[in-house]
Amino acid sequence: MAIKFGRPIEMRDAPRRQAALSAPSLDLVVRPRRNRKSEWARRMVRENVLTTDDLIWPMFVVDGNNTRTPVASMPGVDRLTVDQVVRDAERAAKLDIPCIALFPYTEPSLRDEQGSEALNPDNLVCQSVRAIKKEFPDIGVLCDVALDPFTSHGHDGLIADGRILNDETVAVLVKQALTQAEAGCDIIAPSDMMDGRVGSIREALDDSGFIDVQIMSYAAKYASAFYGPFRDAIGSAKTLTGDKRTYQMDSANSDEALREVELDIAEGADMVMVKPGMPYLDIVRRVKDTFAMPTFVYQVSGEYAMIAGAARNGWIDGDRAMMEALLGFKRAGADGILTYFAAQAAEKIKAQR
Ligand code: PBG
Repeated sequence: MAIKFGRPIEMRDAPRRQAALSAPSLDLVVRPRRNRKSEWARRMVRENVLTTDDLIWPMFVVDGNNTRTPVASMPGVDRLTVDQVVRDAERAAKLDIPCIALFPYTEPSLRDEQGSEALNPDNLVCQSVRAIKKEFPDIGVLCDVALDPFTSHGHDGLIADGRILNDETVAVLVKQALTQAEAGCDIIAPSDMMDGRVGSIREALDDSGFIDVQIMSYAAKYASAFYGPFRDAIGSAKTLTGDKRTYQMDSANSDEALREVELDIAEGADMVMVKPGMPYLDIVRRVKDTFAMPTFVYQVSGEYAMIAGAARNGWIDGDRAMMEALLGFKRAGADGILTYFAAQAAEKIKAQR
């Protein structure tokens, strides 16, 4: 029997049947709406699900004691002193969030051209890693590798004559990664987009005995306007000279993302990331389909700010927009999401059970 797709009844033996009908009807056999008729039916055919295991929670650390300072452009996000980072790590553990990511706000007096504070084994990130690991050894801690929170010019690398130096920067990034591994960090996440940094970091970690420290590379990271609020949070927005387009990717490109990801995998990345998230869902899908690697996506500060800001103004339902955006990443093929909504989303997921 041929399946009857939406051929209007009027086109067939219309007169007899039409007389029998009080309301106009299409004689459809295939009606996709049947599977959406109630919540239990929708649950049965649901293809993707967001769980707390999918979440990585980025946090901002600042010097001081027992203080939480709101980030104006990220409503609901605070800069935390180390003791408060530990409290939020506890909250993450209770919410079954597997991993947290740390970003420092470095005092301007500690920033210099070389980003030397990145190599200080007692910097805010290293202090936080040790404090978290002491109390909650079973939560994963991810540390960003890049110099921008530490440089006076706000760039991720070293500069000479106005140009970002690649290989010289990689040498410093390797030291930064080792400093963080020594503090007890579980995942090294190079976000700098220098060529060859994953391979150099992997080699140095292995040579120093950190064979189990994972690398999640920001493999396809685009030069994006959506990082604005993050730069406020780490205090590099005002100092950043120029832009990052000689190292971060051009948002027009897609094939190039595959080449970048392929290189990082070949150099030893355990997991790869696409960043930002929502404008780059096509990249997430291509990367996942092409490499079948653990693929992460970063819902960046600007994406967070748009949803949180609109919600604060009553323009959208913030909780629903948050969950829809996060599920969209899963649907696109992401295995996990770095998101400032992590705790809020985890609470919602737990409440739904
Ligand atoms: C630093 C870094 C950035 C982000 C993560 N690591 C900013 C940048 O590259 O300028 C952005 C995160 C966000 O916007 O939430 N290299």
